[in-house]
Amino acid sequence: MADELVLQKGADTAQLYAQLLPQLHHLIEDEPDAVANLANIAAALKEAFDFWWVGFYLVRGQQLVLGPFQGPVACTRINFGKGVCGAAWAQGRTIVVPDVEQFPGHIACSSASRSEIVLPALHQGQVQLVLDADSQHLDHFDAAHQQGLAQVIKLVEGKLLPLRPHV
Ligand code: SME
Repeated sequence: MADELVLQKGADTAQLYAQLLPQLHHLIEDEPDAVANLANIAAALKEAFDFWWVGFYLVRGQQLVLGPFQGPVACTRINFGKGVCGAAWAQGRTIVVPDVEQFPGHIACSSASRSEIVLPALHQGQVQLVLDADSQHLDHFDAAHQQGLAQVIKLVEGKLLPLRPHV
C-alpha cells in the first residue's frame, strides 16, 4: 500500500501515466474490495491530472449508478444509451467528446465541464462499469490521455472485474 503518489514535476501527460500506472497497480494489488480500489484510482487520477471530475459509474440492471469519484456532486443514475456514459455503455467503446455542447444528449452534471471521455470496462463481453473524466477545457482528452486511460481500464478489467453484484 503506497502512502502517497510520486509524480515528477514537469512530466508530460504520457510520462505521468507511465509513472502512475505501476503505482495504481501497487495501490490495488493487496486490497480485495473493488469500491476501495476504484476510489483510490479516481483519487489518483484527480491528483495526477486535476480533472474537473473523474470517477466511475457502475452497471446496475438497466442503469448506471454513480460509483467512487472525485469532483463536484454528480447525477446518480444514467439510463442505458443516455448521455456520453450511457452511449459508451450501449456501444461498448470509448467515446471522446471534444466539445460537450456538440454531443446530442450530453448530460450536464456540471455546467463547467467542456470536454469529456468515457471508457467502458468489460468482463466476458459485458460492460460492467465506465470511467468518466471531465475537463473544464475544450478538447482536453488528447491521444496521450486516451492511451493512458485505456491502460487504466486494462488494469481495472484485469484486477477488479467481475464486480460482485452488490458492490
Ligand atoms: N456528462 C455525463 C454525465 C456524467 S457527469 O459528467 C459526471 C454524460 O453525458 O453521460
